[in-house]
Amino acid sequence: KQTDNQLVIDAGQKQFGATTCSSCGMLYSIDSPEDNFQHTQFHQRFLDTIKFVGWKKERIVAEFWDGKIILVLPDDPKYAIKKAEDVRRIADSELGFQQVTLSSPSSAKTYLFINSDRMVVGCLVAENIRQASIRIKWRFLLVSCQAFRVLEQTENPKDMNKEDFMEHHRAWCCSTVPEKAICGVSRIWVFSLMRRKSIATRLLDTVRTTFMYGCHLTKEETAFSDPTPEGKLFATKYCGT
Ligand code: ACO
Ligand code: ZN
Repeated sequence: KQTDNQLVIDAGQKQFGATTCSSCGMLYSIDSPEDNFQHTQFHQRFLDTIKFVGWKKERIVAEFWDGKIILVLPDDPKYAIKKAEDVRRIADSELGFQQVTLSSPSSAKTYLFINSDRMVVGCLVAENIRQASIRIKWRFLLVSCQAFRVLEQTENPKDMNKEDFMEHHRAWCCSTVPEKAICGVSRIWVFSLMRRKSIATRLLDTVRTTFMYGCHLTKEETAFSDPTPEGKLFATKYCGT
């Protein structure tokens, strides 16, 4: 046991034997039997989670030569909700989100990209930010074609006095595109081995045509919350084209 611990510590310090699995994304030390065991378990769970056996009723919103996009809504059967939640949890852990709660679960729409090998390789959670509370609106980084604008909010609106609240509200209204932003993308994730194949692009294109019935949202009417560096690179490219 003593030696095992020693090995792990050494691996951490020298980055010796530390590796990141390219499919499940777990960082572990190949030299540690304990780590290897944990990785094997996590890896299997990961594969089970992204496996898609197919449902009797699937809401297919787009089809491509290499896959399809299905939409899961809050009132869907349990098995669909569970799959959407499990995949979202994978995305959350990769994004470093601790909490698995959504800003407004009752309006959240989950889009899953299923590839031809029956795996969920992409996930996008979209929420209606017009319906969301002011507090949640601040969290969204609005992406316009020209600029990023972060609306930060540190306090809880309940603790704000009226002036503060109005000030914040004005800030929201005066930013470049707030009036238009109605669809908030709170998470977007693509399986690491399937990136740069336009999966995120196709998910977002599909959201824009299906998020509001009978409406085609413009790029300015969609906003991203808390983007990661990769998310920003993607959003910048997406909004610029
Ligand atoms: N570096 C540089 N440019 C990028 C990158 C990147 N890592 N990813 C996308 N782009 C740009 C490129 O210009 C790309 O076009 P190209 O491949 O022709 O050059 C364009 O965006 C379109 O990319 P897609 O192939 O559609 O994007 P992909 O399917 O690879 O998914 C995503 C992008 C979702 C960011 C993916 O890398 C991912 O899941 N990352 C980990 C999770 C994450 O960070 N998600 C974003 C969090 S923000 C949020 O959830 C609101
Ligand atoms: Zn793995």
